[in-house]
Amino acid sequence: MKFVIALLLIISTLSAEVKILAISGSTRKGSYNKKLVRLAAEIATEKGATVTVIDLKDYPMPFYDGDLEGEIGLPENAKILRAKMIESDGVIMSTPEYNGSVSGVLKNTIDWLSRSDGKFNLDAFKDKPFALMSTSVGKRGGQSALEHLAYVIGHIEGRVIPTMVSVPNGHTAFDEKGRLKDAAKAKELDKEIDELINTTRRQKL
Ligand SMILES: Cc1cc2nc3c(=O)[nH]c(=O)nc-3n(C[C@H](O)[C@H](O)[C@H](O)COP(=O)(O)O)c2cc1C
Repeated sequence: MKFVIALLLIISTLSAEVKILAISGSTRKGSYNKKLVRLAAEIATEKGATVTVIDLKDYPMPFYDGDLEGEIGLPENAKILRAKMIESDGVIMSTPEYNGSVSGVLKNTIDWLSRSDGKFNLDAFKDKPFALMSTSVGKRGGQSALEHLAYVIGHIEGRVIPTMVSVPNGHTAFDEKGRLKDAAKAKELDKEIDELINTTRRQKL
């Protein structure tokens, strides 16, 4: 009996649909973070997830301002993105590094999404698995920004996947098909996405 229950659990874990939202913290057209997010999304799709890639350029929103929030509540695009986050089972998020930290556009988006009805509300983040990554043109691949992002996501109770990938030299790191040239980095990214999908599947049980 125990064996049958375990088998049924394994089957339902493997067949559960996993919905992933993939977000780059850079809105630049030729962004290396967008490339990294697209690659991570492709890997997640190959592993059976349903992935929606978001371009923050399609969701412009004002800088967070308490007075504005008091007047209008959440800006329309923040509401839409927040709903998408709540619907998703897990998130892929990549940040560029600006002066040692997360990009302003990404932090501003996170700040708005952590609010509802004029109050702190963590429905879009709480217990949600996050596969975090970064790339920059520097040798450390935005490692400091990635650590800051992990701190922020942890602070708002997101579940940061332990493997985090930073890709050095973003301008030369990808081949013409958008794959990582460095085999060790490619393996790390694959591992991170595996962990993301396994964690989200387990959570859905
Ligand atoms: C204001 C600013 C500050 C930056 N600071 C850093 C930095 O601290 N460390 C780093 O590795 N790269 C830094 N860069 C370089 C960016 O990481 C690089 O432009 C990267 O390609 C941006 O990401 P994207 O390609 O996804 O747009 C900075 C760029 C800008 C515009």
